[in-house]
Amino acid sequence: MIRVLFVCLGNICRSPMAEAVLREQLDRQGLSHKVEVDSAGTGNWHVGNNPHPGTLKILKDNAIPADGMIGRQLNKGDFDEFDYIIGMDETNIADIRSMLGQPDHPKILRFLDLTDHLKDVPDPYYTGDFEETYELVNDGCEALLAKIRKDHEI
Ligand code: 4NP
Repeated sequence: MIRVLFVCLGNICRSPMAEAVLREQLDRQGLSHKVEVDSAGTGNWHVGNNPHPGTLKILKDNAIPADGMIGRQLNKGDFDEFDYIIGMDETNIADIRSMLGQPDHPKILRFLDLTDHLKDVPDPYYTGDFEETYELVNDGCEALLAKIRKDHEI
């Protein structure tokens, strides 16, 4: 099994959105049995919480299932559990590296570096623009899935 972990700050807006979107793309490509997806936050404020209502709404508007996603914090064991650890922005990457004690490991990647956008995923918790974030997350998931398929020849 190939394992992907999306990481943002709170684990209620961007990373659960990416988790649900990638799961849906995997389902459409018949790869759900090969790739597992999870998400976590670097912060602990929303441990045990559901995704933000804005994330739930944009997923629902796009007919993407959002069941069973409960906030959790990144922990050291995640480094060995996952093959791809994807941060939504530069601060997430710095925090992931420091929390996992891995200053520069190739499996820790900034999400949109996989795309032509080459920037941080804007945080809709602050911008209020869940649509903008959704479009970027969608592109990021397509690029990540293409990379996974290539890396693993699946
Ligand atoms: P996320 O957004 O990192 O995309 O989940 C945030 C959610 C909550 C907070 C910050 C960012 N917060 O400070 O509670």
